[in-house]
Amino acid sequence: MDFQTLALPDAGVSGVGADALIVVLPASGDLPSFGKAIDDAVADATKAGDLERKPGRSLYLPRVAGVKAGRVVLAVAKDASAKAFKSAVAAGLSALKSGPARHVAVVGGESTAAHAEALAIAAGDAAYHYDHTKPSAPPAPALSKVSYVVPRAAASTARQGLAVGAAIVSGMNLAKECANLPANYATPTYLGEQAQAMSKTHGLDVEVLDRKACEKLGMGSFLSVARGSEEPPKFIVMQYKGAGKKDAPVVLVGKGITFDTGGISLKPGADMDEMKYDMCGAASVLGTLRAVAELKLKVNLVGLIPTCDNMPSGKATKPGDVVTSMSGQTIEILNTDAEGRLILCDALTYAERFKPAAVVDIATLTGAIVIALGHHNSGLYASDETLAADLLAASAAGIDPAWRMPLDEEYDDALKSNFADMANVGSRAGGSVTAAKFLQRYTSKYPWAHLDIAGTAHRSGAAKGATGRPVPLLTHFVIARAGK
Ligand code: BES
Ligand code: MN
Ligand code: ZN
Repeated sequence: MDFQTLALPDAGVSGVGADALIVVLPASGDLPSFGKAIDDAVADATKAGDLERKPGRSLYLPRVAGVKAGRVVLAVAKDASAKAFKSAVAAGLSALKSGPARHVAVVGGESTAAHAEALAIAAGDAAYHYDHTKPSAPPAPALSKVSYVVPRAAASTARQGLAVGAAIVSGMNLAKECANLPANYATPTYLGEQAQAMSKTHGLDVEVLDRKACEKLGMGSFLSVARGSEEPPKFIVMQYKGAGKKDAPVVLVGKGITFDTGGISLKPGADMDEMKYDMCGAASVLGTLRAVAELKLKVNLVGLIPTCDNMPSGKATKPGDVVTSMSGQTIEILNTDAEGRLILCDALTYAERFKPAAVVDIATLTGAIVIALGHHNSGLYASDETLAADLLAASAAGIDPAWRMPLDEEYDDALKSNFADMANVGSRAGGSVTAAKFLQRYTSKYPWAHLDIAGTAHRSGAAKGATGRPVPLLTHFVIARAGK
């Protein structure tokens, strides 16, 4: 996808040479002028009752007299925010989706960097297309170029916003591709290869540790999850070095369960296919590293991905088994379906060697977070107030919603075990919090945060697919740190 800014021609937007023009209109207040031809079309459509100035409404107009672009879509934004602009652009692009428009120009909104970035991400979402394992898939959307038409004075800031947006789209696309690919393709070995490929394409230092290396490191908890599968586990270490050696890195840790059957604590059959998405945390780490590398940010960033299948078999871990984590703490595995925390805890211990400024883990960790927050907000846990504030600010900047959840020590009691230092599950109550409390026991050496993305990383039903979240949040978090 190609993104560019266009300075608003003196002749007005009617002269813009694109296949389609999306005009974003405010839901309330005065209508700005877009030049006579468009203004007339808007007035006419409003008068005729074809266009209501209500948030979310859009109207497709083929061949408007006096407008060079072959089709015009009027799209109404709730308010002047980048978030509302993004929704309006998405509605506009959706109206053009199956049509022939390749080059779409967009006009309207405040023309800030945030609006430009939002436009790029909406376009990336609209153009994304999965076809690897579907020869009969309809052709990819025609959309290949997007122009943001802005006043001349705003062109340079808008251009910067588009560049950030383009990098985020690139990262989100990688995350979506890895996540959507079925588990018989997207194995731990495949994820390792994807990471390795990025050492060439993006100049990252990449190391993929095999089972033997993990044994040597004492990753007994991670390996206890991998035991049941024929698919060899991998522990991926990726380093982006954009700052000086002495600059403490940010470490991102992504849950990479390439398929979660639940293990011996087998999951029910309904919708189990969606457990191919249990590596969305890992996918978001790959995607964020790609975005950060493309933006050439002056920051040191490490990505850690413990990855394996969670399968039942004669060798699989059994409920009641006790394992020793890399930290030395022992764990009674009461439920083999609470496997995410078991692979993450060893990665969190491994993270210590980087003397990190902050560690953020990202995981499709619990069904309980979906009950708590639904599919809109990711659950954010943080042991450090500054880190929490930074992540919430990044969430707002990336239009990638997250909601802070509690870590009161009282929740920790649920993890008591008679036979080990801790159990891997508590009761059903507050299941997302107890999962976070489990992880917190491995993070005493650095400021830590955890994103539970079980509700936000992928969609079910007719729109089944990966969302690419929380790549926007994570990328903005790293951008803000690079600026410090
Ligand atoms: N991968 C699942 C969590 C999940 C559920 C992700 C739904 C996406 C959608 C995780 O490994 C899991 O199975 N968690 C259990 C924990 C329980 C056994 C304490 C859960 O949420 O039921
Ligand atoms: Mn599970
Ligand atoms: Zn899982």
